[in-house]
Amino acid sequence: MRVLVVGGSGFLGREVCRRAVDAGCSVVGTFHSGGIEVPGVAARRLDVTDRAAVRALVAQVRPDAVVSTPYRYDDWTVTADGTAHVAVAAAEAGARLVHMSSDALHAGRPSPYLDDDVPTPIHAYGAAKAAAETAVRAIDPGAALVRTSLIVGAGSKQIQLCRDALAGRAVLFTDETRCPVDVTDLADAVLELAHSSYAGLLNVAGPDAVSRAELGLLVAGRFGLDTAALKTTTGGAAGVVRPTEVRLDCSRATGLLRTRLRGVRELLAS
Ligand SMILES: NC(=O)c1ccc[n+]([C@@H]2O[C@H](COP(=O)([O-])OP(=O)(O)OC[C@H]3O[C@@H](n4cnc5c(N)ncnc54)[C@H](OP(=O)(O)O)[C@@H]3O)[C@@H](O)[C@H]2O)c1
Repeated sequence: MRVLVVGGSGFLGREVCRRAVDAGCSVVGTFHSGGIEVPGVAARRLDVTDRAAVRALVAQVRPDAVVSTPYRYDDWTVTADGTAHVAVAAAEAGARLVHMSSDALHAGRPSPYLDDDVPTPIHAYGAAKAAAETAVRAIDPGAALVRTSLIVGAGSKQIQLCRDALAGRAVLFTDETRCPVDVTDLADAVLELAHSSYAGLLNVAGPDAVSRAELGLLVAGRFGLDTAALKTTTGGAAGVVRPTEVRLDCSRATGLLRTRLRGVRELLAS
């Protein structure tokens, strides 16, 4: 199988590239400002906001499957428009599309979110991810759209944020609950979906729901770090608008996928 990983230089994208190479796929990965440096991956520069460039690259690579990961937290043109460009190009090439979405398109509530719950975004990033989903579903109803949560593992910016908070250089919210997932588990799940014909939305995250502050304590335990300097607050006190409790019900994914999605308590067991 020939796989094109758009955003192959990203945290998840690099892991998808690595595992696709290991699985014997022919892999092309794109980068924008970073680099890929994964042996066996053909790296190509791409700006997804350039619709013509996206179409030209996909037409040239002629992938069987496209894994679409690119985003910029504060840039609608990348997160929403860029995703639409990738979906159009994949559809034109007749390629299977797996699009990466986010739990950040939910507002937050005490009960878990099901796979098909409609987005209720409360900030610009969540709105851009919701718009991206709408575009993907309209362009390619056969695409798989993966809603995931905090991606952890070696090199994760989420883990780094915890380390920074433990060192007193950042702050963790006590009222922001998420379901972290390991980057290797998520990459395996994404590649499984690339080989499948699953169509539509799918929650793919870990089974343990933890607050950011709890994640910080788990990181401290895992790496033997002192918790005395850990800084925590609430979104309200910090004056930021962010989804609070977002738990993803992943029972559909766990029934569908061979990949076991490990919980963060197991991942960070000390
Ligand atoms: N990380 C999380 O905890 C998390 C949680 C929920 C959902 N997600 C979703 O999962 C996906 C992957 O997240 P990640 O953490 O792996 O992201 P990441 O490490 O920040 O990587 C983002 C990727 O997007 C690329 N990119 C940015 N602007 C671009 C542009 N104009 N044209 C082409 N590519 C561009 C980056 O390329 P360069 O680096 O080369 O510039 C990079 O490859 C995203 O769709 C995100 O919304 C992530």
